[in-house]
Amino acid sequence: MFRIGTGFDLHRLAPGRPLILAGVRLEHPDGLGLLGHSDADAAAHALSDALLGAAALGDIGQLFPDSDPQWEGADSMALLADVARRVRAAGWEPENVDLTILAQAPKISPHAPLMRRRIADAIGIPVEAVSVKAKTMEGLGPIGERRAIAAQASALIRGAKDSSR
Ligand code: CDP
Ligand code: ZN
Repeated sequence: MFRIGTGFDLHRLAPGRPLILAGVRLEHPDGLGLLGHSDADAAAHALSDALLGAAALGDIGQLFPDSDPQWEGADSMALLADVARRVRAAGWEPENVDLTILAQAPKISPHAPLMRRRIADAIGIPVEAVSVKAKTMEGLGPIGERRAIAAQASALIRGAKDSSR
């Protein structure tokens, strides 16, 4: 038995903030970073929601509310690892994930191998089961105008025990 899930997230770009995507610290050409209560890692958030969505376990806003000071500056890759634990506790095994980062800048592809490694380690799946892609928005809209970065992800999970589903 397989289930599929999708996730999406967007954070504003702002000065004086780090730019962290899929657990990798990047330099933005305009010196900008992502604004948010946690570390604002939109890629980690989209991946977390894809896994939660596949298992129908809600979303990260419910699990880690940004009204809770506990999650201030939180390492979103640690939250992704926690999500993977919850998915397994519900009787599912993550099979693969596919991530697309929507960013006008910086160039993501040189960092994709390290991002894949970090995601694989956080979820506990082989690196071959992790895909990281990127798109610009051709200069259009808030992402194209470098005011935001977004990420979308899908995840497949498999019933951990054949008899359990
Ligand atoms: O050519 P197309 O419109 O499909 O894509 P694009 O948005 O122009 O991006 C071209 C290529 O640049 C993508 O296939 C990515 O490999 C890469 N890219 C990247 O590395 N970092 C980004 N922030 C955006 C795109
Ligand atoms: Zn987010």
